[in-house]
Amino acid sequence: MIDRIDQIKELAMREIESCSDIDELKQLKVRYLGRKGELTSILRSIGKLSVRERPAVGKAAGEAKALLSQRLQEAFSSLAEKQRGPQEFFDITLPGRRPSVGRKHPLTQVIDEIVRIFHGMGFSVAEGPDVETEYYNFDALNTPADHPSRDIQDTFYLKSGELLRTQTSPVQIRVMEKQRPPVRIIAPGRCYRRDTPDATHSPNFHQVEGLYVDTDVTMADLKGALTVFARQLLGKEVKVRFRPHFFPFTEPSVEYDFSCTACGGKGCSLCKGTGWMEISGAGMVDPAVFEAVGYDSERYSGYAFGMGVERIAMVKYGIDDIRLFYENDLRFLQQF
Ligand code: DAH
Repeated sequence: MIDRIDQIKELAMREIESCSDIDELKQLKVRYLGRKGELTSILRSIGKLSVRERPAVGKAAGEAKALLSQRLQEAFSSLAEKQRGPQEFFDITLPGRRPSVGRKHPLTQVIDEIVRIFHGMGFSVAEGPDVETEYYNFDALNTPADHPSRDIQDTFYLKSGELLRTQTSPVQIRVMEKQRPPVRIIAPGRCYRRDTPDATHSPNFHQVEGLYVDTDVTMADLKGALTVFARQLLGKEVKVRFRPHFFPFTEPSVEYDFSCTACGGKGCSLCKGTGWMEISGAGMVDPAVFEAVGYDSERYSGYAFGMGVERIAMVKYGIDDIRLFYENDLRFLQQF
């Protein structure tokens, strides 16, 4: 009996030694130490042996079992170690993983900056709905029914007959309907137009509207405010240029440009060689608009402007494709 135990022990040790696979090792464990294993049945039958044989066989079988369990355990750990391999090597000197912190979208940052600058000049923030009526978006802004900007091509009309505002100018009307002069507001918000997206067009974009109405407001006030704005936003070196233009709700109307931030006005690819960047429209509020809201156009005058937020962000950061703002690519967004 003791010889048999030694045989089993020798065989098992050899097999464990040469085993290089965890699953095979598990099978070996079952075979040698499992309930149906030979060693187990020897141990179980010890009670049936003669009193003389019992102690020696019991000792040999017990020791064999203990030795095999120990060898199996060692073999398991050394195989597991090998399988884990070098890539799981734990380097305690590595710095920990930083939790990533969210931030404001670059357009929100630019809007915040614009609001901050105009706050400093006494403007407060007003808001209006994205879904507008034709009256607020067009009629009250002296935009006749045959004006090209009312064309189905440019405007998203809703089944209800309402529309998605094409500009923030309707907020001017909503504010003046509720408030008597003096009025000094800016209105940041989303606008919508049926444009095919490309590097400079997006069907959804942002504007900041401005409106100042009081007695004796002049074009000089408008030029002053927008010049201060440009310098605070982009630095003292920036120049501002006003060009004659047409808008239905202002008379006279202008477009205003900033000198190109990339080349300082010499002409480069960002400003298409002109040295100037178009920022937006502005002008003196047309008397017809005052009439629509019941202001006395003999007594009051005012200026208004509407600037493109994406435009300003592109000028400020030297970005050449408006679509970058809407793709939510973290590699882009994390730069701001
Ligand atoms: N709403 C005009 C547009 O989207 C921009 C604009 C021009 C706004 C002149 C104004 C303004 O308030 O006075 O093109």
